[in-house]
Amino acid sequence: MRTQVGIIGGGPSGLLLARLLGLAGIDSVVLERRTPEYLRARIRAGLLEQGTVDLLDEIGVGARLNRDKLVHDGVELVFDGKRHRIDLKALSGKSVTIYGQSEIQSDLMNAHEAAGTPILYEVDNVSLHGLTGEAAQLRYTRRGESHQLACDFIAGCDGFHGASREAIPKDVLRVYEKVYPFGWLGILSETPPVNHELIYTNHERGFALCTMRSLTRSRHYLQVSAEEDAAHWSDDRFWSELKLRLPPDVAAALVTGPSIEKSVAPLRSFVAEPMRYGRLFLAGDAAHIVPPTGAKGLNLAAADVRFLAEALVAHYKTGSAALLDGYSAKCLARIWKAQRFSWWMTSLTHRFPEASPFERRAQAAELAYITGSKAGQTTLAENYVGLPFE
Ligand code: FAD
Ligand code: DHB
Repeated sequence: MRTQVGIIGGGPSGLLLARLLGLAGIDSVVLERRTPEYLRARIRAGLLEQGTVDLLDEIGVGARLNRDKLVHDGVELVFDGKRHRIDLKALSGKSVTIYGQSEIQSDLMNAHEAAGTPILYEVDNVSLHGLTGEAAQLRYTRRGESHQLACDFIAGCDGFHGASREAIPKDVLRVYEKVYPFGWLGILSETPPVNHELIYTNHERGFALCTMRSLTRSRHYLQVSAEEDAAHWSDDRFWSELKLRLPPDVAAALVTGPSIEKSVAPLRSFVAEPMRYGRLFLAGDAAHIVPPTGAKGLNLAAADVRFLAEALVAHYKTGSAALLDGYSAKCLARIWKAQRFSWWMTSLTHRFPEASPFERRAQAAELAYITGSKAGQTTLAENYVGLPFE
């Protein structure tokens, strides 16, 4: 088999790229390890920047999004038990959108099914070859048989634990990493959101976040130790702990109910540079991970893919390699700003077990400064809604 672009990974990055390429008349084949059912059920991100919403609209998968989305003009920060609203719209001119990643995954899969994009599920043992040669090749097994796919380029969209980043030689790849001493325990429940906008809480018992997927479905997160096992958290224990961390009026308004998903996610900042090695281009979580506090993971993946698709289209339509050559640097400029913001939001809102009394007082002062100053609120707002594309 041969194709123009071989895409490893059928998550948001891989499917967005395949869609953008397909609309431009460029062939691709997507190799995905999991089943379609698994992908549609996977619960992850929920908050979209306007640029991500625009991209989904542009590629014709925005119908359900535009019908079901919740648009938020503000966000709340809580510390010392008091609520402070940041008016994102007034400060930055932009809003943010709530729409679940699992819905985006389904919308993209439905569009690809209708367009007949070749997406091969349940593929194993993917390996990358010929990255610096005349042509690249992907080898994989499926249903017990070995296959080969010849391609002009390979897009590594296979997430943090994928095979593509590993194919870049160790003496070429530079890795920057920060691991946090805590994780997020998240639950999803069929309960109405406690507030019409998100609430990020810094409490002495740890961070908490009240978010949502719809007007009838809530998502809540608690800071827990990095080694915490979700099995040790009954629903009652989760709701009781959440109430302890929320201001009394919010705790009193909280509607609880059985969880339909419960899991612990570790928090990590990670960047791999460069994002290109010969015919291989990395995009999304394959190249970078942010702690979820700034809600940037999915939005960064969408920005990478927008740039990569533009570069590949320019190559095929005009023969120019300029955008492909500039891909890594262009993505990394945006990624590092989002990394900085995600690290900063995490530092501002979480309780660090090793923090000295001085650091705790400095954190409290920073929260008071950010919420009390228009300049402070603006810096949070313009990063949270998504920096402009350059
Ligand atoms: P992925 O979604 O990881 O997709 C990669 C795909 O590649 C997967 O489908 C995988 O099965 C496939 N794959 C992997 N290896 C191989 C292989 N060797 N061969 C073939 N296929 C392979 N972001 C936020 O903004 N807010 C959140 O609340 C949030 N919560 C998250 C919770 C969890 C548990 C995780 C893991 C991530 C979360 N994120 C969140 C981050 C966000 O979901 C990711 O940034 C986004 O999924 C990135 O998309 P991607 O397509 O690059 O990678
Ligand atoms: C969600 C997750 C986040 O990490 C965040 O900062 C905002 C929203 C969510 O799951 O809805």
